[in-house]
Amino acid sequence: MGKDVIIACDFSGRREALSFLEQFRDEKPFVKIGMELFYAEGPEIVRQIKARGHRIFLDLKLHDIPNTVKKAMGVLSGLDVDLCNLHAAGARAMMEGALEGLTRPDGTRPLLIAVTQLTSTGPEVLRDELWIDRPLEETVLHYARNARQAGLDGVVCSPLEAEGVHRTCGAGFLTVTPGIRFADGEKGDQVRVTTPEKAKALGSDYIVVGRPITAAADPVAAYRRCVREFVD
Ligand code: C5P
Repeated sequence: MGKDVIIACDFSGRREALSFLEQFRDEKPFVKIGMELFYAEGPEIVRQIKARGHRIFLDLKLHDIPNTVKKAMGVLSGLDVDLCNLHAAGARAMMEGALEGLTRPDGTRPLLIAVTQLTSTGPEVLRDELWIDRPLEETVLHYARNARQAGLDGVVCSPLEAEGVHRTCGAGFLTVTPGIRFADGEKGDQVRVTTPEKAKALGSDYIVVGRPITAAADPVAAYRRCVREFVD
């Protein structure tokens, strides 16, 4: 899989999500379905979007005991998603269980990536609440290394971390990066933002873009601009 733009379909329900996607007539963007839409509509929304020909990143960030995650991943694999994720903090046995659960009888499976540290976790929270004394950046790279050793395909990270992850885990280890804004756009609640062009220069494999596309006056044009800046 080459570089691509993934649209974060952060809508509260089926109607909003599907009418948003109907605007795309000449292309079938890769779509991220997160907890809000999945919990509101259940697995059916995944089937419906898949049936329309979109590739799907199911962003449910699993984190539980290995056996539970293995079973849950088996269910997600049956939904025929292309990419799904979990928390690297669940540790290696959980990640290995997840891979086992995802693998279909014919040996195929969706790609599996790990969240290292949430971008909402800052150095103070890491130290004072989670009691992790190492620098945040080191824990990100260490969790990425654990994910690699467990056999996962990549991580979700900031574009600013993509280079370090590739250096630590290899060029083929995927970096899927949110926090993308156009140079002339609104930042919203994202703090450390990167343009699609910069993300490309930093080596991101996939950018995840929500509001710069979903809240644009012309979402199709905004999507095409992302593709132009990041892929072409
Ligand atoms: O609208 P925006 O472009 O900020 O959307 C980014 C998407 O990526 C959202 O679905 C958000 O939950 C997700 N995300 C993120 N930062 C992370 C992990 C996921 O923004 N570290």
